[in-house]
Amino acid sequence: MKKRYYCKRLNETLNFDALKVFYCCATRTGPSIDVPSPKNVKNIIKKRNSLIRMLDKGIVPKECEDCFDLHEKENAKPLFLSAFEKIPKANLIIVKHFKQCDCSCIYCCEQYLSKRKIVLKSKKSDYYDLLPIIEECYRQDIIDKKELDVHFQGGNVSVLDEFESLVDIFMKNGVKRVEIATNGIKYLPKIAEIAGKTFVDVNISIDSGCKETFKKIKTVDKFEDVIQNLKKYVKLPILLRLKYIIVRGINDNIDEINKYIELMHEIGITNSELMIDQCDNEFISEGEFKIPDYYYDLFKFYKEKCTQYNIKANIWEYVKEILDKGSFFK
Ligand SMILES: C[S@@+](CC[C@H](N)C(=O)[O-])C[C@H]1O[C@@H](n2cnc3c(N)ncnc32)[C@H](O)[C@@H]1O
Ligand code: SF4
Ligand code: SF4
Repeated sequence: MKKRYYCKRLNETLNFDALKVFYCCATRTGPSIDVPSPKNVKNIIKKRNSLIRMLDKGIVPKECEDCFDLHEKENAKPLFLSAFEKIPKANLIIVKHFKQCDCSCIYCCEQYLSKRKIVLKSKKSDYYDLLPIIEECYRQDIIDKKELDVHFQGGNVSVLDEFESLVDIFMKNGVKRVEIATNGIKYLPKIAEIAGKTFVDVNISIDSGCKETFKKIKTVDKFEDVIQNLKKYVKLPILLRLKYIIVRGINDNIDEINKYIELMHEIGITNSELMIDQCDNEFISEGEFKIPDYYYDLFKFYKEKCTQYNIKANIWEYVKEILDKGSFFK
C-alpha cells in the first residue's frame, strides 16, 4: 500500500519569524516562505496547502526529511480526495517577527539579529508589521477561531509597538490561549486586562535569585523591577511560570538555584522551569555538547527543593533527553 505521511505541527502552525514564516516550530530549517506581507497571505496559504497535500500523497519535502515530527499514516487512505477538500485551519500562531529587547541576555539565541542593542521604548519590528497580516489571515479564514493558541516570543513584547493591538485582534476573534514569554522587566497591563477572559500563560525568564547574578546574565540592573512585577502578576488568574536557564560559570551553582527557589516561595509562584543554555560553546568537545557531571547535582537539588515548597519543578522533555544522553547531539 502507498505510504502517506502527516505532521501535526504543519497542520497547526504559522510561525512568524523575522525573515520568514515557518510552517512549524520544530526546527529552523523546516519549510518556510520568505518575508510576509498582507499581499503575500495567499501565497503563505498556497504553500501550506501544497505541503500538507504533498505529505498526504507520500512525498516528503526536502526540509522535512528525517524530522522526528513526520509520521507515517496508519490508515493510508488519502486525506484529500479532491483538490477542493478543506485543509485544516491553523490553530497555533507564533509571534517572533521582532528581535528588539529591553535587556540583552548573554545566552540569547535571538540577539544575533538585533546586535545586542538594548531598546527601551516601544518600536516597530525591524522586519515587518504583523497586524495587517493577521487581519488578512482572518479575512481569508485560515485561522481556527475556536481552538487558537497564540505564543508571543520575540524579542521582548514590552518594546513591540504592535503587542497590544495583536492581543486585541486575537481576543476579538475568541483566542483560546495566550502564552507570553517575557523578561518581566516592564509590567504589561494587557496581561491583567485579558486575565480571566481567556487562558493566559506568562513565562518569565529570571535566571537568578539575586540582583548581582541577574545583572551578569541580563546585562541590565533591573532585578527589583522584575520582583515588583512578579508580585503583581502572581495575584492574577493566570498560569505564571518562572524560568531559570543554567549558564556556565555564572548561575550554575546550588547557592543561586537555592536563592531562586526561595524567591519563588516568598512571592508565592508555584511553577518553575529549569533549562540548559543551548548556545554554550564551552559544552563543545569533539563536536558534542557534553553535559558536566555537576549539572546532575543541580537538577537533583532543584527537584528536591521545589518538592519541599510544593513548587512544580518542570523540566522540558528535550532537557530530560539531553540529561539522559549526557550531551546535546549524541
Ligand atoms: C528568545 S526568548 C523571547 C521571549 C522573552 N524575551 C523571554 O526572554 O522570555 C524565548 C525563549 O527562549 C529562551 N532562550 C533564549 N536563549 C536561550 C538559550 N541560549 N538556551 C535556552 N533557552 C533560551 C528564553 O528563555 C525564552 O524563554
Ligand atoms: S515534518 Fe518536521 S520539518 Fe516538516 S513541517 Fe513537520 S515539524 Fe516541520
Ligand atoms: S529577554 Fe528574551 S529576547 Fe531579551 S535578550 Fe533575554 S532571552 Fe533574548
